[in-house]
Amino acid sequence: MAENNKHIVIDFDSTFTQVEALDILGEISLHTHPERKARLQAIKDITDKGMEGGMTFRESLDARIDLLDAHKNHLPELISKLKTKVSVSFKRNTDFFLKNSDNIYIISNGFKDFILPIVTEFGVLESNVFANTFHFDSDGNIIGFDKENVLSSNQGKVKVLQQLGLVGDVYVIGDGYTDFEIKKAGLANKFYAFTENVLRDQIVQNADHITPSLDEFLYLNKMNTAISYPKNRIKVLLLENVHQRAVDLMKAEGYQVEVYPAGLDEDELCEKIKDVSIIGIRSKTQITRKVIDHANRLISIGAFCIGTNQIDLQACLERGIAVFNAPFSNTRSVVELAIAEIILLMRNLPDKFSMMHQGKWDKSAGSSFEVRGKKLGIIGYGNIGAQLSVVAESIGLEVHYYDIEEKLALGNAKKCSSMNELLETVDIITLHVDGRPENQNMIGENEIKHMKQGVVFLNLARGHVVDVPALKKALESGKIRGAAVDVFPEEPKSNNDEFVSELRGVNNVMLTPHIGGSTLEAQENIAQFVPGKIMEYINTGSTSNSVNFPNLQLPTFINAHRLIHIHKNVPGILAHINNLLAQHDVNIVGQYLKTNETVGYVITDIDKEYDQDLIDSLKKIEHTIKFRVLY
Ligand code: NAI
Repeated sequence: MAENNKHIVIDFDSTFTQVEALDILGEISLHTHPERKARLQAIKDITDKGMEGGMTFRESLDARIDLLDAHKNHLPELISKLKTKVSVSFKRNTDFFLKNSDNIYIISNGFKDFILPIVTEFGVLESNVFANTFHFDSDGNIIGFDKENVLSSNQGKVKVLQQLGLVGDVYVIGDGYTDFEIKKAGLANKFYAFTENVLRDQIVQNADHITPSLDEFLYLNKMNTAISYPKNRIKVLLLENVHQRAVDLMKAEGYQVEVYPAGLDEDELCEKIKDVSIIGIRSKTQITRKVIDHANRLISIGAFCIGTNQIDLQACLERGIAVFNAPFSNTRSVVELAIAEIILLMRNLPDKFSMMHQGKWDKSAGSSFEVRGKKLGIIGYGNIGAQLSVVAESIGLEVHYYDIEEKLALGNAKKCSSMNELLETVDIITLHVDGRPENQNMIGENEIKHMKQGVVFLNLARGHVVDVPALKKALESGKIRGAAVDVFPEEPKSNNDEFVSELRGVNNVMLTPHIGGSTLEAQENIAQFVPGKIMEYINTGSTSNSVNFPNLQLPTFINAHRLIHIHKNVPGILAHINNLLAQHDVNIVGQYLKTNETVGYVITDIDKEYDQDLIDSLKKIEHTIKFRVLY
């Protein structure tokens, strides 16, 4: 008998697995049946009616078996499909099944023929599985079920519980009426409505607790081992139409996800953010200090974009909120556009396009060059610059680059020791510097003087880094023979505002509305990258790539508890933590510390069961900002 004599009765269909097995069996057995669609719908309707208590169980089972036209040979396929459909939170908590196998019972009105192969893989004992069995005819057709089995009759689960005569507490986890009946008959202490896969109003209303995943049940009963806090309690708010991929990933993780197509203003956000643990925004939503002051539960912010100016990073840091963005999810998109524009400009195509639209046929090779063998100068050799270097070289450009920081030259790229050296050497100049204030007008009249006559120029970095009137002058004089500009010192706030720039109407300049990084792939990459970082932070404490937190990349921890302590960066905290651990006789297996000017971030892996007392004292250490335990 496990601790406290707790017996846990679990339903199979839509609880242990995400689906109703007979629905899946129908999809297999009726695959080529002419009435397939109608029959599958009928089976589903009968299942729901039975679940909600609107039909006797025997009637519903008889009717479904009749409609199924199933055969023994269909069962292996059913079983392999069901194996892929085990509820996500069950998969996450395999430990729980192994640890409590003596006291876990699967009681189902489904069939042992497919239940046993699934649940025994989790360590559930065959003797603890109670379910029906099929009857087959001599050709292997499923023609009925064992009518002697109490589970084929109404109140079947109640009868099994009566026969079992369990001593101690009985908890029932299920999604259907027959599960609730056990509690109703006085045979269970508590009925937990399991809503991870289906939510039936009538069942939820009758439940003692709603458990949106197994994690919640384990948390309520202090049986959790796989995670420290039920993920369904983590509320996520995603604003500004964040890509569906992010929504799906967060939901699959078990979080409660709420989505808003637009942004929210400060007051709305102050209200909305109160019980939110994770917020996802794009560039419009302003996360101010006031918003942070209202964010009592906020653990992390995801900026589903590159920039993070819209977030008060310092306020986040002071409250122990880790911010993540997607610094290179659209790198490749920018690079591809730059390559395309370099080729178009070298072929003088913007001119050709406009002439064609005016009806002018100018078939000539004049001013049209291959890019092969030409010298490309990349200013700013960061994520984009370096990636462009590789792609440009592969189509035959000779790459020169200049960066204010020491950067590894990729491939055969040649480093220039000054910007002027680069400007004087190359045929094509492309800017990929960041937008720091010192870079304001870094390309102006003086720099243009250093360029070769008739160069091609691109700015896909930031508008203010180029002195636009000087660029216009150089384009008009032919010093720069063609340019591509994607970013501007002043950009329209929305698609409804007019684009105003001196560059409008200037010949041989390709103007694009800041779309260098705007591709569907980039959006999807961002939606994949940011949730990945946030989930890693929540699950392991790793802060790699965080915009504001000290970056700690942590080893995976096995057989250890991980204590995560965020505190104000004042001397002596680490010693304090370690003193407390020593006082509680706890052995440290690994410890990682990183600080920045504002906070200290300490991860301690310990190998011993901890007591609540230790946790309370760690939380009480002066200057603690946040504390949490993993496992
Ligand atoms: P990054 O931060 O990886 O690289 C910037 C590089 O520029 C760094 O290596 C830095 O040392 C260097 N740098 C800064 N100032 C410099 C100077 N005065 N001279 C020479 N080197 C200098 O940034 P990443 O991701 O490569 O992005 C580059 C630019 O592209 C940024 O301004 C970013 O805002 C812009 N961008 C534009 C997009 C668009 O849609 N057009 C999309 C994505 C980024």
